Amino acid sequence: MTQQTAARAIAAALEERFGETFTVDPQTPGLPALAEIASHRSHRRFLPRPISPELLRLLCACALSAPSKSDLQQCDIVIVGDATIRRTIVDTIPDMPWIMDAPAFLMFVGNGARLPLAAKLREKPFPNDHLDQFFNAAVDAAIVLATFMRAAAAVGLGSCPISAVRDHPRIVSAALRLPQRTFPVAGLCVGWPAEAGAITPRLSLATTVVENAYGTRDVLGEIDAYDRRRAALRPYRRQRSVARWGEAKFYGWSEDKARQYAEPTRTDFGAFVRGKGFCLD
Ligand SMILES: Cc1cc2nc3c(=O)[nH]c(=O)nc-3n(C[C@H](O)[C@H](O)[C@H](O)COP(=O)(O)O)c2cc1C
Repeated sequence: MTQQTAARAIAAALEERFGETFTVDPQTPGLPALAEIASHRSHRRFLPRPISPELLRLLCACALSAPSKSDLQQCDIVIVGDATIRRTIVDTIPDMPWIMDAPAFLMFVGNGARLPLAAKLREKPFPNDHLDQFFNAAVDAAIVLATFMRAAAAVGLGSCPISAVRDHPRIVSAALRLPQRTFPVAGLCVGWPAEAGAITPRLSLATTVVENAYGTRDVLGEIDAYDRRRAALRPYRRQRSVARWGEAKFYGWSEDKARQYAEPTRTDFGAFVRGKGFCLD
């Protein structure tokens, strides 16, 4: 991809994403890499073509090259190659059976076990067993997940994270034999895309990029504008929980998210994490 083509691709992708015009200087270095990032889309349909173990290992190594809080290295990646184990996990997510069809399925795990172990090994006190420990491991795992997705995209693979693996964390934990002080952050389906996929519009940059400090803003107006822009570009194919909320005349992002979070989900995740040995205070 030439710099010129990349500049055009970035401008087009970001215009679709954010609903505003972007001027990209073709002299800016690294535009092909930015074009890939700007045109991100999750992939949920894959060709029945395997990914070699060597390539998966390479992508894991690239992902685990990501920065890590205090160099604590609190993320592990489980390559779930065993069909029975994957089935056990997928069976907890009945509305996403397509996860089973992905050529590869990985689990990104937050691992807070090694740090207290190092304290014990080096005979030091560990007075930092509080929420930040769990949070650091979760953040590290999220960064590794995102880096894996970027690395996968660079070689032409598509992927889709799966936080639904936290719907039934005890079953997932038992299937993967997750030790104490480890927890699933997200799964990841990976494969060669069967279709191009589409760009999902995001909230405007005026909503999510803040200059210096938060001031008075018309958040409701911004959400409404986003609802309308998004509905025009990528209308939802079906409405959520129609039996409970009926058929909305206008169904936008905020209606969908409000309906999604009107149902209790993962209410016992804190209890699961505490049971895994973390202190969340
Ligand atoms: C941490 C995380 C968890 C996600 N979990 C799921 C999931 O369980 N199932 C799913 O189909 N997509 C999941 N996604 C994908 C999002 O739905 C997707 O990123 C979002 O709709 C925006 O679409 P885009 O990635 O194509 O821009 C997840 C994404 C992230 C970052």
